[in-house]
Amino acid sequence: MNIVFISPPLAGKGTQSSRLKNILNIPHISTGSLLRKKAKDTDELAFTLRDLISRGELVDDNLMIEIIKERIALDDCKNGYILDGFPRTINQAELYEKLLIDMNLPLGKVIYLNITYDVAVARINGRLTCETCGAVYNSFNEETKPLKEDTCDACNSTLVKRADDNVETLLDRFTQYNEKTAPLIEYYREKGNIYEFDSSKEPSTVTQKIVELVRGNID
Ligand code: AP5
Repeated sequence: MNIVFISPPLAGKGTQSSRLKNILNIPHISTGSLLRKKAKDTDELAFTLRDLISRGELVDDNLMIEIIKERIALDDCKNGYILDGFPRTINQAELYEKLLIDMNLPLGKVIYLNITYDVAVARINGRLTCETCGAVYNSFNEETKPLKEDTCDACNSTLVKRADDNVETLLDRFTQYNEKTAPLIEYYREKGNIYEFDSSKEPSTVTQKIVELVRGNID
């Protein structure tokens, strides 16, 4: 089963993906975290990535499709994978569709997590991320706060606050989302394979509904 997440920033793509990867036993591919890793290098590409990400701008579509192509060809994706953050433009979706045809892979289910800008603002200062295993926490939420402050429950690594987690950049990320990513909702609606969930509900409620969908108990 392949899953694609589409949502505004802070809606819970990373949260839901890291839960689903354990439940469904398929890898979680976060383009944001792949890019943040590449951005730590010292070459020119890393410099460009740091600049774009810190301003909430999108990275070039052709680079993104190359990253995805390389990643989904790996052996751990043979039973499916979860895409968190890709595609993010109509052009990326079209390039991805061609890639799926070339690789003889199904699109799977597209999951749209819906939240308002105000919910995202309320979450942004509490988010903590584990760069080692990808787990996501929120110190403002009882269900998702780490057991020990600043330490990942799953792997004991130190949790970090992302450089783009501030209200100024969030507004730019939302603008990018509304202009470039939101049109994908209609694009996939026309294809009949997008499913919408209210992601302002508790994370476990959202997870349960997605699992029911993926396992075929709801449509
Ligand atoms: P990316 O890392 O993908 O950032 P994003 O889309 O802005 O999404 P976030 O990671 O901020 O949020 P999320 O939906 O994963 O929410 P999370 O689970 O963390 O991309 C970063 C940058 O990389 C982009 O700006 C761009 O520059 C570049 N990029 C990436 N992909 C690209 C592409 N394809 N093309 C071009 N450029 C690309 O949850 C947020 C918080 O809320 C957490 O604290 C969590 O605990 C909490 N939370 C989650 N769900 C709930 C809930 N149901 N109830 C209460 N709290 C919740």
